[in-house]
Amino acid sequence: MDIRLAERINRLPAQFFAALTKRVAEVQALGHDVINLGQGNPDLPTPKHVVEALRTAVLDPATHRYSPFRGLPRLKLAVADFYARTYGVELNPEEEVAILVGGKTGLVEIAELYLDKGDLALVPDPGYPDYLSGIELAGGTARPMPITADNGYLPDLDALSPAEWARVKVWYLNYPNNPTGAGATPEFFDAVIERAKAHDVVVVHDFAYGAIGYDGVQPLSFLQRPEAKTVGVEIYTMSKTYNMAGWRVAFAVGNKDVIAHLNLIQDHYYVSIFPAVQEAAVAALTSDQASVEKLVTTYQRRRDAFIAEAQRHGLLVPAPAGSFFCWLPIPKGVDSVMFAEELLVGAHVAVAPGRGFGEHGEGYVRVGLLNTEERLREAAARIAEFVHRRYV
Ligand SMILES: Cc1ncc(COP(=O)(O)O)c(C=O)c1O
Repeated sequence: MDIRLAERINRLPAQFFAALTKRVAEVQALGHDVINLGQGNPDLPTPKHVVEALRTAVLDPATHRYSPFRGLPRLKLAVADFYARTYGVELNPEEEVAILVGGKTGLVEIAELYLDKGDLALVPDPGYPDYLSGIELAGGTARPMPITADNGYLPDLDALSPAEWARVKVWYLNYPNNPTGAGATPEFFDAVIERAKAHDVVVVHDFAYGAIGYDGVQPLSFLQRPEAKTVGVEIYTMSKTYNMAGWRVAFAVGNKDVIAHLNLIQDHYYVSIFPAVQEAAVAALTSDQASVEKLVTTYQRRRDAFIAEAQRHGLLVPAPAGSFFCWLPIPKGVDSVMFAEELLVGAHVAVAPGRGFGEHGEGYVRVGLLNTEERLREAAARIAEFVHRRYV
């Protein structure tokens, strides 16, 4: 039988990081001690009280039934309460909160909701590759917005022509940014809101690393800007803040119409998520946030250990403002994919080549701070030694 994939599935971008995972496994299979800093999978466990909340909930047969289609009202209340406490943002839990099956799903759904053939979606370049997946599935076209060290990793809003603006329907933003670790400014968000209003563009601020800001600076929520709700939503995931990546729970907050549209598409895809997981998410959001503070302190220590050790060996690493990544410049003119491969083979350290995040990621590799301070120091020393041996 000739089973043919639909055209839109054939258009899906290649999973760049699948190849990296395979290469790491091959080098490990040769018996080498590889320090894998290539992925973005949190290494620490979910806080105990959240796991306990799941255990209690799962023993209650009420959680074994279908969830309400649009999620537990208790969870939406907890989200509204969390945003009020954390960001001073007031939300109507029923109209301005949608429960998502992980942040990634929400990002893909947004593209499906608003993009027709020929429509443009603005994406950061470099940026999280999965924005492109949703755009391709929907039949839209990605319009990369270069973000570079020169512009503080904030895109130039004047770079688009009026004809392009007329075609833009969706605008993906992400601060703290994966992969660069950069933060946004209030002025930048306000400029985005002004443009979005002028051109009827739905803004989606991906706040996956919202909890992870360094040097005592809390990352800015898009919804903290006065008119943000008029143009879009923010997507917040439990994956990073509470080390719940495997649990698949996140939420979108903001513009009522966009929330209604997300609920609409999800009515057709899912019956929300396992009620016991939603109960555990309520516990995470409403209980003491000491575990989050501890997590941020851990990442800050790791960041500082990695940077200090690299510097001790003569390698300068810019400090990220947030996220759990360092964005490491590589020697001028060297291809990032080749650099990552040679580093893996020559120093047994795996990093993600910048090219995998877009054309403007070239010249860098992404280092995940997802290992102990000791291993990160060892990795910094190995990388610095490799750069000197190979390029200096
Ligand atoms: C920038 C960014 N957005 C979204 C996600 C998706 O998170 P999840 O689907 O686990 O909520 C990730 C995960 O790595 C990410 O790095």
